Amino acid sequence: MTGDALDLLVLGSGVAGLSAAVHGADTHRMRVGVLTKGELPQSTTRWAQGGVAAVLHGDPDSTDLHLADTLAAGAGLCDADAVRVLVDEGPLRVNELITLGAMFDRDAKGELELAREGGHTLARIVHAGGSATGVEVERALVEAVQATMAAIYEHAFALDLLVEAGRCVGVVALFPDGSTREVRATNVLVTTGGAGQLFAVTTNPLEATGDGIAMALRAGVAVADLEFVQFHPTALSIEAMPRPLLTEALRGHGALLRDSKGERFVDELQPRDVVSRAETRRMHELGDDHVFLDATGLDHFDRRFPNIAAALAGAGLDPAKDWLPVAPAAHYTCGGIVTDLRGATTLPGLWAAGEVSCSGVHGANRLASNSLLEGMVFGPRAVEAIEAGVSGPATTGAMRAVLGADADEPRRVSDDVIGGRFLTLEAPPPQAGPSRDPASVRAELQRAMTHDAGVLRDAGTLRLAAQAADAAWTSSAGSTVAHHEVRNLATVGRALARAASTRAESRGAHTRADFPAADPDLAVRLVVV
Ligand code: SIN
Repeated sequence: MTGDALDLLVLGSGVAGLSAAVHGADTHRMRVGVLTKGELPQSTTRWAQGGVAAVLHGDPDSTDLHLADTLAAGAGLCDADAVRVLVDEGPLRVNELITLGAMFDRDAKGELELAREGGHTLARIVHAGGSATGVEVERALVEAVQATMAAIYEHAFALDLLVEAGRCVGVVALFPDGSTREVRATNVLVTTGGAGQLFAVTTNPLEATGDGIAMALRAGVAVADLEFVQFHPTALSIEAMPRPLLTEALRGHGALLRDSKGERFVDELQPRDVVSRAETRRMHELGDDHVFLDATGLDHFDRRFPNIAAALAGAGLDPAKDWLPVAPAAHYTCGGIVTDLRGATTLPGLWAAGEVSCSGVHGANRLASNSLLEGMVFGPRAVEAIEAGVSGPATTGAMRAVLGADADEPRRVSDDVIGGRFLTLEAPPPQAGPSRDPASVRAELQRAMTHDAGVLRDAGTLRLAAQAADAAWTSSAGSTVAHHEVRNLATVGRALARAASTRAESRGAHTRADFPAADPDLAVRLVVV
């Protein structure tokens, strides 16, 4: 065991986790620990480009418009109350971050510059370093956490939740010296991010292996919306993995999408699911493996997007002259551990925030630049709830699909309240020994998921995806971090395939070639337990 029990153990060090840690340690003087499998600044947050969507200036923008755009992108599965919290509290949290020292880009008059991205009716995205927003957000938060008394456990891999008498009381973790120890805490907040590494073509860093979601599934904690994986339409189509992202803000500035004949085929400012689907269909029709982003008409590219200009130069591309090859890449896990509006999960003592969670703000497809915002709003909300002595989940947000669900008649309860349908996951097949090289097993799983559970899926391909996840599980016995990561990916992959097979319709980021329309009876959350 490591030290005395903490008040709050945060798993993960992205925007949700570090916002919560600062809030807990500074504002509420809690004894906080942050446990991360890499180093503190190493998180998916660092990779975020475009920015943070928040209504910081009024007219003509308003939080009502931000809410309406978020609901429209979410294709009928957002929880309107959760989105209301997101858009209303967002501006306060962005301003707090500025007070902490985050430097967002400003114009000559000192006003925050605002960009527009797909799905937003107006320019409302604040950004830093052009399109290096995640780097700046992470820098500010890492420095803020380091200035607190929070205990930092780096290179410590959380293996499983510790559950005693029906309550989460910490985790069992693998430490860099090879020892396995308990870290005890009165409350555990999971902020470990998504599972983009389930796919061979992804914008997510190597660490995005769905560890928190897999831990929750193993502990019987409710998880939902896993079938909704957002594919970003403009990942640079070169061999590098993760794929370099060409921010959505480029299209907001006027960059155009063209097929290999030079023709435009989609409104570039539609939400990401629409654009990724249009690209995939056009690539299939023309037998291509990419389309092109034409940014030749953009002024001051190097000045506005310096990090992207550098990445393009490294790939031998000049955005002033070359059309840039792009294709969809797995980018964001819209679902995750089900929470109420304050981050409480179905397991008392366990909280979740950020990409790992399913609070109801994203529904079937996340609106661009709402993810950093979600982390900075819902991380601190969990801390506030802990401070207020909340001990379990309320029937609010996505949790309404669990606590308010009628197992015999899963349905949409009303326009505002989304019901749930429970899916049970069969026990995984036995693990064969000796295990295979985890890197090879991971690569096989990733290829299968991209091919069979990617932008377009059907019942047959999803069966293959489920078999691939079972096979990865079977071949991943072993005690290294690499083995644990493959098992976590396989666990999430099994649940994703199960949910995607059950959702016999197309909605948001989930497109079934065999069920191309949305089915009103399926306007419910699929909850895996
Ligand atoms: C982007 O800049 O296009 C990505 C930002 C996001 O994922 O919202």
